[in-house]
Amino acid sequence: MSSPALDLDTLVRDPATRIVVCCGAGGVGKTTTSAALGLAAAAAGRSVVVLTIDPAKRLAQSLGLEELDNEPRRIETGGPGELHAMMLDMKRTFDDVVVAHSTPERAEQVLANPFYQALSSSFGGTQEYMAMEKLGQLRARETWDLIIVDTPPSRSALDFLDAPDRLARFLDGTMIRLLTAPARAGGRAGLRMVSAGFGLFSRIISKILGGQLLGDIATFIAALDSMFGGFRERATATYELLKQPGTAFVVVATPEPDALREASYFVDRLSAEGMPLAGLVLNRTHPPATTALSATRAAAAAEAVAEAGGKGAKLAAGALRVHAERMAQASREQRLADRFAQAHGDVAVRTVPAAAGDVHDLADLEVMAAALTADDADSGTGTPRSRILPARR
Ligand SMILES: Nc1ncnc2c1ncn2[C@@H]1O[C@H](COP(=O)(O)OP(=O)(O)O)[C@@H](O)[C@H]1O
Ligand SMILES: [Mg+2]
Repeated sequence: MSSPALDLDTLVRDPATRIVVCCGAGGVGKTTTSAALGLAAAAAGRSVVVLTIDPAKRLAQSLGLEELDNEPRRIETGGPGELHAMMLDMKRTFDDVVVAHSTPERAEQVLANPFYQALSSSFGGTQEYMAMEKLGQLRARETWDLIIVDTPPSRSALDFLDAPDRLARFLDGTMIRLLTAPARAGGRAGLRMVSAGFGLFSRIISKILGGQLLGDIATFIAALDSMFGGFRERATATYELLKQPGTAFVVVATPEPDALREASYFVDRLSAEGMPLAGLVLNRTHPPATTALSATRAAAAAEAVAEAGGKGAKLAAGALRVHAERMAQASREQRLADRFAQAHGDVAVRTVPAAAGDVHDLADLEVMAAALTADDADSGTGTPRSRILPARR
């Protein structure tokens, strides 16, 4: 079973491609892939912004992203295009939204509210939602012709898609509605009308949470009430934007059971949501230097050489064993890739071999970019880059 080849070079060059979203399990290379694709697109002459969520420290440093200023910074690449990168500051993004959509006094009130402070920095889903918010902001500026979005290291890789829904659920939650009932009804008459039910409810909650917190929540919600419609509207608009043909989702995985299971689930979910999937990047694969010598034969040869002894025998046997292990690992990885292909025969795949070390500077990113976008046929072993090992005939 072979997967079709994922042509990322064409994807990032195509002027019709406006948004690329890299998603997948934690630690598989989403941030690295996002940055490398950004570099490739800039090298192809496009004006690109990469929105990273949690770049590894050394990568962030080498991209000049040490300060979390929540704004794109230009990165000198020497290429014809333009590469900008930024690191999402979830709290700052939330604050900006509050400031942009209320009066200065109101904004001050909200920003100082302890409940708001807790929500804006730790509410489950806030990071996912703020990534959407930021994407919407970047898109609205019309400054870049390509936006590449990295996704948060969520417990569930699907949280990114759930953000608008979750926010809606949170805002529509019964507790919130009850808490804001007096403020919504407006004025004293409204207060009187609902005060019986609310009073009882709030007394119970007060007992559980403490009066101060309840007061904070009520003030906060009342202050935010007018903004909520806007919040949700924009989340929904961004969600719809993701469904447009100009968007491409790239699912990233490593050739490991957990990562591929997550990738499978993600592929199904994207298709269920009607989101445009470009394909799978199978990152950090371990293709052998040559496939001419099988694992079994290499292991047997290692034994034979070691037994025969003589000058250089130890070294040769060692090299043969390394090759045998590498072939065995590649076979394991290929089996996992094949299983994925069986379940998702139509999903295009691109393999990217593991680099010797971490990918943490522009030079490393360039190597990664080349591995992502180079011609499908010109891998070292002649194996198409949608596979780790040549297909058996
Ligand atoms: N092809 C690769 N070869 C070697 N190391 C890689 C490769 N891709 C990613 N890495 C490394 O793996 C780690 C996790 O990558 P990262 O992009 O931060 O993952 P994620 O964003 O999915 O959590 C980083 O240290 C990165 O340098
Ligand atoms: Mg990351």
